[in-house]
Amino acid sequence: MRFAQRLDQVPPYLFAEIERRIEAMRADGVDVISLGIGDPDLPTPPAVVEALQQAAARPETHQYPSNRGLGAFREAVTAFYADRFEVDIDPESEVIPVLGGKEAVAHVALACLDPGDVALAPDPGYPPYTSGPLFAGADLHYLPLREENAFMPDLDAISAETARRANLLYCNYPNNPTGAVVAEGFFERAVAFAREHELVAIHDSAYTEIAFDGYRPPSFLGTPGAKEVGAEIFSLSKGWNMTGWRIGWIAGNAEVVERYRQLKTNLDSGMFDALQLAGVAALTDARDFPEEMSEVYRRRRDLMIDALRAIGLDVEPPHATPYLWIRVPEAHDAASFTELVLEQAAVIVSPGPSFGPSGESYVRISLTVPDARLEEAAGRIASSLGAPGGMMARRLGAMGGSRQGRREPPYPERYGRD
Ligand SMILES: Cc1ncc(COP(=O)(O)O)c(C=O)c1O
Repeated sequence: MRFAQRLDQVPPYLFAEIERRIEAMRADGVDVISLGIGDPDLPTPPAVVEALQQAAARPETHQYPSNRGLGAFREAVTAFYADRFEVDIDPESEVIPVLGGKEAVAHVALACLDPGDVALAPDPGYPPYTSGPLFAGADLHYLPLREENAFMPDLDAISAETARRANLLYCNYPNNPTGAVVAEGFFERAVAFAREHELVAIHDSAYTEIAFDGYRPPSFLGTPGAKEVGAEIFSLSKGWNMTGWRIGWIAGNAEVVERYRQLKTNLDSGMFDALQLAGVAALTDARDFPEEMSEVYRRRRDLMIDALRAIGLDVEPPHATPYLWIRVPEAHDAASFTELVLEQAAVIVSPGPSFGPSGESYVRISLTVPDARLEEAAGRIASSLGAPGGMMARRLGAMGGSRQGRREPPYPERYGRD
């Protein structure tokens, strides 16, 4: 059999080797705790579950939905945008449902890019910013997100030739994996850049509802001119604990939305009407639920940061997202530190390079595990990787750096067998 080459263009899945190790450790009876994936552990709000139950019992929801979406769904999005972001969305022409943010992030590339076009994608970034454009036959230009730039891309560093070929710009704030929130003026700069180079700007808004310390993330569509150049992809997954439900939308520029709908009519048959009605319940009856979730993640964030400080890693607390983006100790890279944490604490973190080459010196911790497990993981990290007297960073440094062949850990205790 022969398969399409496009599948081979997608970067290798860095987790493959780690998964093999986890399996081996679990087979050995080790209690491995995964902080690797951003999948909320707590249930969907009951009002949403009940709305689905009731809607699914109504036979009129059982036929093919339309890719335009139910009027009730589009109107609920409009009301949500007005109330939450003070942004006007025309429910007739400026929004349609999508089957989760991932579907839209990846497929929007098929609607915007021809072979030879360039997509501008944050690095590190959510993997479909890479796979979507590559599947469209386009070229990818990474926009490094550097700590010294507050994890904002430097659009001025893009060469004139790359900007000329670019037809799609992805951005994402609050950001996965860095946890960064948008810097003042960045959305305005993105609008100006998109206008100047006549490209489509897509803002991935998966995390606006998970925020802390009084911070309220804005919508890209609230930026003057944003609706002229692009659209925003929103998801109910993270704020409402609904990753399994696959409910989101794309909203903004009417032509982008219409072209996206046109593409989707050839790929899928829309979102189950009962799910759309459950989505309405999330945006109305469970409208404030993400604030409760934000408080849960804030507490977990602080707990984990204390544990990381105990091993000498000073992590700036993020103001949004359920993630901590951690620079690994010197003498380590992401792979060796991931390995160290797995070996010493039986805790899985995501190695930064799974999000792009600029993640080389970072790992990501996800706070989407039950409190007791997170406390257990934090305790293991602090006690297993730490050393009395605050010496652990040096000790970590002394044992780090070897990517091949494991050095003997300097600590006698092995973890995770408790
Ligand atoms: C940045 C970002 N965008 C989009 C998504 C997609 O979420 P979903 O497909 O569940 O809506 C995720 C999920 O992890 C994400 O991290």
